[in-house]
Amino acid sequence: MRDFLQRLPKAELHLHIEGSLEPELMFTLAERNGVTLPYDSVEAVKAAYEFDDLQGFLDLYYQGMSVLRSAEDFHDLAMDYFRRAHADGVVHVEMHFDPQAHLARGVELETVMEGLGLACREVERELGMSTAMIMAFLRDRPAEAAMAVLERAAPYWELLDAVGLDSAERGHPPSKFTEVFRRAKMLGIPRVAHAGEEGPPEYIREALDLLEVCRIDHGVRCLEDPALVNRLRDEGVVLTVCPLSNVRLKVVQDLASHPLPQLLDAGLRVTLNSDDPAYFGGGMLANFLACHEAFGWSREVFVQLAGTAIEAAFISDRRRLELHRQLASSV
Ligand code: ADE
Ligand code: ZN
Repeated sequence: MRDFLQRLPKAELHLHIEGSLEPELMFTLAERNGVTLPYDSVEAVKAAYEFDDLQGFLDLYYQGMSVLRSAEDFHDLAMDYFRRAHADGVVHVEMHFDPQAHLARGVELETVMEGLGLACREVERELGMSTAMIMAFLRDRPAEAAMAVLERAAPYWELLDAVGLDSAERGHPPSKFTEVFRRAKMLGIPRVAHAGEEGPPEYIREALDLLEVCRIDHGVRCLEDPALVNRLRDEGVVLTVCPLSNVRLKVVQDLASHPLPQLLDAGLRVTLNSDDPAYFGGGMLANFLACHEAFGWSREVFVQLAGTAIEAAFISDRRRLELHRQLASSV
């Protein structure tokens, strides 16, 4: 099964590139940039990754990214992840990135875009993987700040495959960002949002109705609202689910009690993703393998999940056809 899951051409739709920063690279970049970390070893970093909830994780996530300063750092971060993803059998990666977290540290959007853009072109050329960029707004900061970043990104609008919404969910409903997402729609930029990870099902409705998103990131709490489940099924809305993340952030008690089987039984379109692989115990293959162990799913289920990811990816029709063919010949 491991070989089968590794060979399966997987598209990853929910990945925070800053959350792919492994402790080893964190130390390398800290040294390169003269940044002092509150840890004295890789083991000490890993030992600190015990989270009570999303906020507990976010505190370390924002601290960890303080080592990212130059375009070269962002390039190295992305290439490091792309290589691991490639080894996992990932053929397409859509990466969220958090410009506001970098601007707050004096790192310009140009620096982030240059480094990530370079890595995207390199991996497409050298490893044949495709990539997409999702510029995320931090929902625990004011909507005006998100709007300012969107305007500041004008030179890059063409390069953005979507905008997203992440960071601390509770108390920061999608409705707070209605104007920002309306502006993105006006600019022709597709939209996604984290909703129903820690927040209530109502946030999923708001993301659909007010932000007009084409996918929901996480969305697992939809099951608390049967009418919402019916709507998600009828409208074919895709949920980008992150099983190991949900366990590590205590959204669920353990993987065996994860609602993935119920989501599938309800006829929802779901995909498997790693979210923040350096913090949550592994990348795409680790997530697929963990689901195999927890749910005993057959090959057909994994082919269905991989197919849904290809259907919902921000790629050209030509690339979509190519990946569907790759998937068909891998089984
Ligand atoms: N930023 C990085 N990972 C996140 C997650 N799982 N939820 C919300 N914001 C995030
Ligand atoms: Zn996420």
